[in-house]
Amino acid sequence: METPDKSTMKEINSLKPFRKKKSKERSRNKPLTGAMLRLILASGVVAAFFITRQGVLDPKPSTRKALGDSELRAALLSMVLTDPVAPIPGSREERLASFGKKLFFDTRLSSNGKVACATCHQSDKFFTDSLPTARGTGTTNRNTPTILNSGMAHWFFWDGRADSLAAQAVGPLETQSEHGLTRSSLAALIELHYRDEYAQLFGNLKKIHPTQAGVETGPTNASPKKLAAYTLASIGPYQRLTGVLKLASDKGLQPSSLIAEFLFRGQQVDSDVRATEVAANVGTALATWERLQIANQSAFDGYLKRVAENPKSSLQSLTNESDFSGMALAGLRIFTGRGNCSLCHRGALLSDQQFHNIGLGDTPRQRDLPIQSWVEDVAGRAKGQFDVGQSEFNCQSRVWQNAGDLNATRQSESCREQEFLDLESFESVGAFKTPPLRNVAMTAPYFHDGRAATIDEVLQHYDQLKAEPVIGHREESLRPLDLSAEEKAALKAFLESLTSPARDLSRQ
Ligand code: HEC
Ligand code: HEC
Repeated sequence: METPDKSTMKEINSLKPFRKKKSKERSRNKPLTGAMLRLILASGVVAAFFITRQGVLDPKPSTRKALGDSELRAALLSMVLTDPVAPIPGSREERLASFGKKLFFDTRLSSNGKVACATCHQSDKFFTDSLPTARGTGTTNRNTPTILNSGMAHWFFWDGRADSLAAQAVGPLETQSEHGLTRSSLAALIELHYRDEYAQLFGNLKKIHPTQAGVETGPTNASPKKLAAYTLASIGPYQRLTGVLKLASDKGLQPSSLIAEFLFRGQQVDSDVRATEVAANVGTALATWERLQIANQSAFDGYLKRVAENPKSSLQSLTNESDFSGMALAGLRIFTGRGNCSLCHRGALLSDQQFHNIGLGDTPRQRDLPIQSWVEDVAGRAKGQFDVGQSEFNCQSRVWQNAGDLNATRQSESCREQEFLDLESFESVGAFKTPPLRNVAMTAPYFHDGRAATIDEVLQHYDQLKAEPVIGHREESLRPLDLSAEEKAALKAFLESLTSPARDLSRQ
């Protein structure tokens, strides 16, 4: 077993210990066999891993106070979700949306003729699918988020690897386990089924020659080594860490180089120029329709309206048992107070549009993954922020010039943010996007991999914070809550008050 070189060790040792565990807990949870012990002793990396994980006490429970009524009122006014502007009848935008809608429900745009966007984003399930992880032409490792209100989001996918709704839409079409198309086959299918409609919106389809051009290179030299070293040192499950070390040694690589390869591997893409243009236009049409799918008529929205219209009435007096109940208000007070949920779940979408490691542990599904897929599965934003920079469809790309998609521009929030992305940020390891919470009661199961079957399970996580993060470190702002049964019920009543029917604003 090879040990990492001095510079890798120095990097790992220089990392600040973010979150540490009591040593007795580790030995209780993870019995060591003699062979494993030898492996550990042979590796300085593991020593560093122990050093970064010992000594600090578990976080103290939250003692945060509830907001006063005037602060809460201000927070509420920032949660109002207004309608997007509906397209003018007869406008190009209206025609784009109507084209996008057809594409969304069209199963012909898949390798087996059976999968449409709507297979996973089902309108009668608030545009989700009730599955832990989505199933298209194959099985994916992510839970299906809703598309409702997605026009207001800044980043797309759980790891934010797309920076616009239009760029996002190309993803599933080209993913083996979702629609299973190549870019050229997508273009050919559009030509076959939608030639005239496409031409009216985007001009004549140029002849597409399916090619497999433009295969990208392997690991790029832009891989931030420090992040790879940290990722390695912060791997939670013990078996997994030893597995990574063994694989690195088998391949004759430094462990951190092996991780870098998994995190920053260039993707193989079929990037025929004309087919890329078609994909961008298809994305634009889909995004135009998606942006008009809104849900902002929940009991909570009704309450927000009453609060805005009655600045003099007390928050309590504006509750209404049949609508936004006193119990939901009690839940809201925990949400914005002791629970500190609104630190991340804030604003109109109840999401800060940022990425956090909330300390989820490993799962049986993950345990069965080969190491490379495992790293890709758990890395979260560390991989997503790299991927968005590499994407042919990011906001800097010229493909949007013709498509004219409004969101996919350099002025968008996520585009501006990209200038400041820190590719070496430790916080990005194991971090996922704060999901919006509107309709959350209707979109079980939960979390990026659908591991929580019910809201109660989600609340249990935040209440106790028992798990050892599978990778990275749990954000320090999270504290165990130790809620009573009544408090949990109130918090749940608040989450249930966020259920709203969906409206399609593309149809006037
Ligand atoms: C096989 C099921 C499946 C199909 C088919 C599918 N999606 Fe998704 N969709 C998902 C999953 C799973 C995610 C999250 C994936 C991830 O984060 O890696 C997602 C993410 C999204 C998001 C981002 C939402 C957010 O909050 O980040 C949008 C928007 C979306 N899909 C739209 C579409 C469109 C448009 C299509 C058709 C072109 C489509 N999806 C096809 C399952 C599917
Ligand atoms: C530090 C930021 C942060 C705080 C604080 C926080 N959350 Fe979250 N929340 C997230 C992130 C990030 C996820 C997604 C995690 C994942 O899947 O890996 C999430 C997921 C969820 C989900 C699952 C939604 C879905 O569609 O899968 C619910 C429900 C939720 N949080 C409710 C709460 C409640 C209630 C509180 C307060 C007790 C809270 N959150 C506090 C960031 C936060």
